[in-house]
Amino acid sequence: MFGCSDGSDVYTLIINLLNELKENAKKFFPVLASDISKPLIDDLNAGKIYLHSRDIEFIEKNGVKELFTRNPEERTREIFGIEFVPYKVNDFLKSKLHASVKDVREASGAEDFAGSVFAFRNGWTFNTLDEQNRIAANFYKNSDTDTLGIIGQSDLFKSNASEFLQRNGFQGIESDIFTRKETDYPSKSIGMPPVRSDYPEFLLFEKRGAV
Ligand SMILES: C[S@@+](CC[C@H](N)C(=O)[O-])C[C@H]1O[C@@H](n2cnc3c(N)ncnc32)[C@H](O)[C@@H]1O
Repeated sequence: MFGCSDGSDVYTLIINLLNELKENAKKFFPVLASDISKPLIDDLNAGKIYLHSRDIEFIEKNGVKELFTRNPEERTREIFGIEFVPYKVNDFLKSKLHASVKDVREASGAEDFAGSVFAFRNGWTFNTLDEQNRIAANFYKNSDTDTLGIIGQSDLFKSNASEFLQRNGFQGIESDIFTRKETDYPSKSIGMPPVRSDYPEFLLFEKRGAV
């Protein structure tokens, strides 16, 4: 999982895997999580995270409240008018991921994604259009027909990733998780593609073999 930021999506994935697959989830661990930002990865390795009310709702609904405890060493933060409360991730949850600093522009060209999943969610627009295209081409080159690709397209970070992946050979997979709904943040897009794409938007991608 590239561009994992504070770990929210990697923790969500781990919690869902544990709840859905129970014992069988262990073959997916540790999930490899990386980001170009060292301070973010340092916080991840220190088990630090800030949760807002929707996060708390999610962990309560999923019966995993004990995986997080309030962190008294840090203060509550307010971002875009949303309150983020400091928590610590417990050792069990921390042990399910391996966090490191990586630049997806390099890693996509250097790693083998055959038979595995690459996810780069909501981070594409931090890179130029040429770089996004190169990342997509790299993912394609290093994937096989068992690879699953995952991107994110929240309104805040809507990117050209879906188009670039398709231009480079990936096929989108229809899924009911794609939604055009606004995020719960103010939609101050930093990444809206300059031109509306002719390609359909997908979140999941695969490299199809010859039929
Ligand atoms: C908006 S956050 C997305 C976090 C999380 N994946 C999500 O969807 O909520 C974007 C992240 O992508 C990371 N990022 C941007 N360009 C990157 C690159 N070239 N290599 C690795 N990480 C990158 C940023 O550092 C940032 O943490």
